Amino acid sequence: MRKHPISKTVAGLTVPFARHPEVRRLKRNGHNPSIHGTKLWGSGHLLIDFIASNSSLAPTSVIDAGCGWGLAGIWCAKTFGAAVASVDADRCVMPYLELTAQLNDVSVNPIVAHFEDIDENILGATDWLIGSDICFWDDLAEPVTEMISRAIDSGTKRILIADPQRAPFLRVAEAILSGYGGELLEWRVKGTRSSGVILVIENA
Ligand SMILES: C[S@@+](CC[C@H](N)C(=O)[O-])C[C@H]1O[C@@H](n2cnc3c(N)ncnc32)[C@H](O)[C@@H]1O
Repeated sequence: MRKHPISKTVAGLTVPFARHPEVRRLKRNGHNPSIHGTKLWGSGHLLIDFIASNSSLAPTSVIDAGCGWGLAGIWCAKTFGAAVASVDADRCVMPYLELTAQLNDVSVNPIVAHFEDIDENILGATDWLIGSDICFWDDLAEPVTEMISRAIDSGTKRILIADPQRAPFLRVAEAILSGYGGELLEWRVKGTRSSGVILVIENA
């Protein structure tokens, strides 16, 4: 084994470290994510672990909103064969998303867009809306709440958002649960330090 590994395995998927030669090459070429899309965050693993233990029906289409390096969407593409739209406001995350997809032999559809741009038509035609650690600033609470509300209203069948319990996200969850119902579940990945909550809305 290499003294300094260039990647790790998360939920059966390969995730490159910052020292991975391809990650270094992307950085050298000026791809510098600026809204925290700089690595796989723990909530991505949390979300995958939850989906792996709680899914009786496989989705055919998934939106991974605020995807960053996109591991949860990549896992859905690999595990379910789902068509995955990996959406992020920061175009600089897309080369890292594509590298991670390539390392795992799947393809996803990278889309540069804000939460506000994910409209009813797209949401209504998609089975699942997923996201992990996407509400870390107060200013994000409104667009995230509105995106989830649009998904519920337009008939997205399942909405799953994982979070390490940041205050703005807890406010989003409270607003959604009181307006529409659903559940906020505590979740922990056994044998790891990954823990947090999952907002679960079954809308089928
Ligand atoms: C903390 S990272 C989490 C990334 C990934 N979901 C994960 O779990 O590893 C938050 C991501 O949300 C994206 N983001 C922030 N504001 C956004 C917005 N208004 N619309 C879409 N994406 C946004 C950032 O660019 C970043 O990639």
